[in-house]
Amino acid sequence: ALVERGNYRHFMEKEIHDQPDACQHTLSAYLDPVSGKATAPGGVDFAKVDRIQIIACGTAFYAGLISRYLFERLARIPVDVEVASEFRYREPPVTPGTLAIVVSQSGETADTLAALRWCKGQGLQTAAVVNVHESTMAREADVLFPTHAGPEIGVASTKAFTSQVAALTALAIAAGAARGMFDATEEARLSRLLLEAPRLIAQSIAVEDAIRALAPDLAKARDVLYFGRGAMSALALEGALKLKEISYIHAEGYAAGELKHGPIALIDEATPVIVIAPSDALYEKTMSNMSEVMARGGPIILFTDAEGAENAPAGVKVIVVPTCDPLVAPLVFSAPIQLLAYHVAVQKGADVDQPRNLAKSVTVE
Ligand code: G6P
Repeated sequence: ALVERGNYRHFMEKEIHDQPDACQHTLSAYLDPVSGKATAPGGVDFAKVDRIQIIACGTAFYAGLISRYLFERLARIPVDVEVASEFRYREPPVTPGTLAIVVSQSGETADTLAALRWCKGQGLQTAAVVNVHESTMAREADVLFPTHAGPEIGVASTKAFTSQVAALTALAIAAGAARGMFDATEEARLSRLLLEAPRLIAQSIAVEDAIRALAPDLAKARDVLYFGRGAMSALALEGALKLKEISYIHAEGYAAGELKHGPIALIDEATPVIVIAPSDALYEKTMSNMSEVMARGGPIILFTDAEGAENAPAGVKVIVVPTCDPLVAPLVFSAPIQLLAYHVAVQKGADVDQPRNLAKSVTVE
C-alpha cells in the first residue's frame, strides 16, 4: 500500500505523530479494556518460563532493555538482553525454561534472524515481537507477539519502537498475572494504566514547540550526552542513537550513576547534557548528578514531569512532559526525545528520512 506523508515534512515526523494510534492498535492485541485482562498471544505460559532472553539490534535492542525493568519488576522473571550480533556467536549455555524473544521492526535483520534460528536449534521456546507480520521472523518463531505500528518508512525507528515497548509492557503484565505476582484487580489496574498511554503520548507530542525552540542551540553542538536511571537509562541510549543517526552529532547515552566513571571528563560549556528524569524514586539521585554537571558549566536540558520541574535546580532548561505512572513513563518520554533529534536534524538541513550510510533493514551481516 502506498504510504502518504500527508501534511508532514518528513515520514519521521509523521511517524512520531502516529504513535498514539500505533500504540493503541498494538495494545488492543494484548489488553482487554473491559475485563482488564492481559493476555500473551500464542498461548505462551509465563508460569512455566524461568528466564527470558531478549535479542535484537539497534533501536529494537533498546526496547528490549526497557522491557527488562518491567518484566523483572512485575513478573519477577530474570531477563537478559543482548545485541544479536554478539549473542549469535557467543553461543551461551542455555537453560531449559528460557523463553527467547527476538524484537524486530522488519523481522528480517540478519543477525537477529540468525540468533532466533540458533535458539530454536537449542530447543528453546521462541517468540518474535515483530511489526511486519509476513516476515521471516514472524513465520519462524514459535509465537508471534505482534506490534501494529503500520508501515514505518523513516530509517530512524520511532513508532515501531514505542509499539515494541507497549507490547512488551503488556506482556510483562500478562507474565506477572500468570505467575501469581498480583491478583486480577491489580492486573486490571495495570492494564488500564497502560491503556492510558496513547492519550499521554498525544499530550507529550504537544510539547513539540518547546522542543523545536531548543534545536538551534543544540544543532551547534559537537557532542551531546544523555543520562537517565532505571528504564530511562535505556531511553537515554535510544535518544543518543536517534540524534547521531539523523543529525550526525556525536551523542552518547549513559546510566546517570556512571557519570563519575568517565563521562564527567567530557563536561564543559559546549557539551549539552540531556537528562531524562521523571519524578520517581530515583529523581533525587539524578538531580545530584546534575549538580555535578552544572558545577562544571555543562548546559542541561531536563525532560521531566510537573513535579520534577518544580524541584529542578535553577539554570536548567526544562521540558515538561505529562505526569504519568512509572509503568508508562518510557512510552510517554519517548516522543519528546525523538522530537528533539528530529528538530535538531531539520535545523541542520539533514536528510531526516534517508540518513547517510544507514539502511532501514540490515539483511546482510
Ligand atoms: C537498522 C535500522 C534501525 C533498526 C535496526 C534493527 O539499523 O536503521 O532503525 O532499529 O536496523 O531493525 P529491525 O527491523 O530488526 O528492528
